Amino acid sequence: MKLQEGVSLVAIFFSLAYTQLVKGQHQPRDDCQTKCGNITIEYPFGISSGCYYPGDDSFNLTCDEKEKLFIGINVEVVNFNDSAQLSVLFYRFSECIDEQSNETNGTALEYQLGSSFSFSSKNKFTLVGCNALALLSTFGKQNYSTGCLSLCDSQPEANEIRNGVGFCQTDVFDGYKVQFGSARLANQINNSVVNTSVYQFNPCTYAFLVEDGKFDFSPTEDLRDLRNVTDFPVALDWSIGNQTCEQAGSTSICGGNSTCFDSTTRPGYVCKCKGGYHGNPYHPDGCQDSILEI
Ligand SMILES: *[C@@H]1O[C@H](CO)[C@@H](O)[C@H](O)[C@H]1NC(C)=O
Ligand SMILES: *[C@@H]1O[C@H](CO)[C@@H](O)[C@H](O)[C@H]1NC(C)=O
Ligand SMILES: *[C@@H]1O[C@H](CO)[C@@H](O)[C@H](O)[C@H]1NC(C)=O
Ligand SMILES: *[C@@H]1O[C@H](CO)[C@@H](O)[C@H](O)[C@H]1NC(C)=O
Ligand SMILES: *[C@@H]1O[C@H](CO)[C@@H](O)[C@H](O)[C@H]1NC(C)=O
Ligand SMILES: *[C@@H]1O[C@H](CO)[C@@H](O)[C@H](O)[C@H]1NC(C)=O
Ligand SMILES: *[C@@H]1O[C@H](CO)[C@@H](O)[C@H](O)[C@H]1NC(C)=O
Ligand SMILES: *[C@@H]1O[C@H](CO)[C@@H](O)[C@H](O)[C@H]1NC(C)=O
Ligand SMILES: *[C@@H]1O[C@H](CO)[C@@H](O)[C@H](O)[C@H]1NC(C)=O
Ligand SMILES: *[C@@H]1O[C@H](CO)[C@@H](O)[C@H](O)[C@H]1NC(C)=O
Ligand SMILES: *[C@@H]1O[C@H](CO)[C@@H](O)[C@H](O)[C@H]1NC(C)=O
Repeated sequence: MKLQEGVSLVAIFFSLAYTQLVKGQHQPRDDCQTKCGNITIEYPFGISSGCYYPGDDSFNLTCDEKEKLFIGINVEVVNFNDSAQLSVLFYRFSECIDEQSNETNGTALEYQLGSSFSFSSKNKFTLVGCNALALLSTFGKQNYSTGCLSLCDSQPEANEIRNGVGFCQTDVFDGYKVQFGSARLANQINNSVVNTSVYQFNPCTYAFLVEDGKFDFSPTEDLRDLRNVTDFPVALDWSIGNQTCEQAGSTSICGGNSTCFDSTTRPGYVCKCKGGYHGNPYHPDGCQDSILEI
């Protein structure tokens, strides 16, 4: 299978710079731009020098002239989350087999994140295609490989949607790097088992990561061309540094009235406002009490 014959890489490298900081250096400037289109940007993220957490340049975002927000070289950010998650768009993999020439041009995709980010286990690895196989490798504290299989000789009925028939979704492990791709099961395997004459209604196989619940498979629309959707939202976990709260001690950037927690998904820590306080816990005085003055 093409997927296993070596991997041609489309890599997205975030900056790996890291500097040890001392308390008192992390206050963002007061005049930082906090909007890009309809997305609100909050510290530790920022879009100019002095506005993002200086310990890791991957918190340095770019807002382009079309008011689209990017992290790293070209990864679009679509949402931030209070629980140290953000959603970014990643390109899907596709492989289209030319029935006449048997030619394929698919090689696996690879995405690698900067040191403060990891792929969340909230994502699903997804395959769309009939008589197709997809493989995913995740690199992290441990490395895992997983796969997805979909078998069908004809287009499934819209009211008979079943994981493994026309599409397949499986859980992913968290990690800082993923590689994935998909391929048609070759008819050489066994003509009586795998019928590759599915091209008429399913010319390509597709593989992608997507946030759980953000993809609803439609046999009539997706097997033809995936509705021409090329990017899917992927959840990333982030944290500050790679030390625990205890190790970070007084160098933690958690602001007043906030508490430091060791990240449950990755190295480093996250901050949360104490009970009764609301705001941005990474800002020195972001957490304010919510008692209304009347
Ligand atoms: C923490 O991460 C930086 C890169 O971000 C790395 O250079 C350093 O070795 C890491 N430290 C530990 C203890 O893992
Ligand atoms: C931002 O705008 C885009 C399109 O302009 C829309 O799809 C999206 O839902 C909006 N996001 C929020 C958080 O309002
Ligand atoms: C932040 O990112 C922008 C765009 O990639 C870059 O021009 C700028 O130099 C970066 N700032 C720092 C301090 O690295
Ligand atoms: C944001 O965090 C909440 C609470 O943990 C979670 O349920 C939700 O799925 C997250 N959303 C995104 C877009 O990551
Ligand atoms: C394509 O594959 C089929 C079945 O394996 C074979 O019979 C055919 O000759 C191949 N076509 C070309 C152009 O290689
Ligand atoms: C792969 O093949 C498809 C269909 O033939 C084509 O549209 C696409 O541009 C090709 N991709 C690459 C990277 O060559
Ligand atoms: C995971 O894979 C990477 C790259 O192949 C390798 O450097 C690393 O040692 C592996 N980690 C584990 C825990 O096997
Ligand atoms: C293919 O299927 C046929 C009929 O079911 C069977 O006789 C044959 O052994 C199979 N071949 C392989 C390689 O599995
Ligand atoms: C594959 O399926 C098509 C359409 O259902 C059928 O016409 C064809 O005979 C099948 N081929 C094999 C080898 O089973
Ligand atoms: C996808 O693009 C193709 C080619 O441009 C077009 O024929 C088709 O109608 C589009 N499909 C959808 C669902 O927009
Ligand atoms: C913490 O909360 C108290 C009471 O609301 C407030 O007076 C104080 O300014 C807050 N501290 C910081 C650093 O925001």
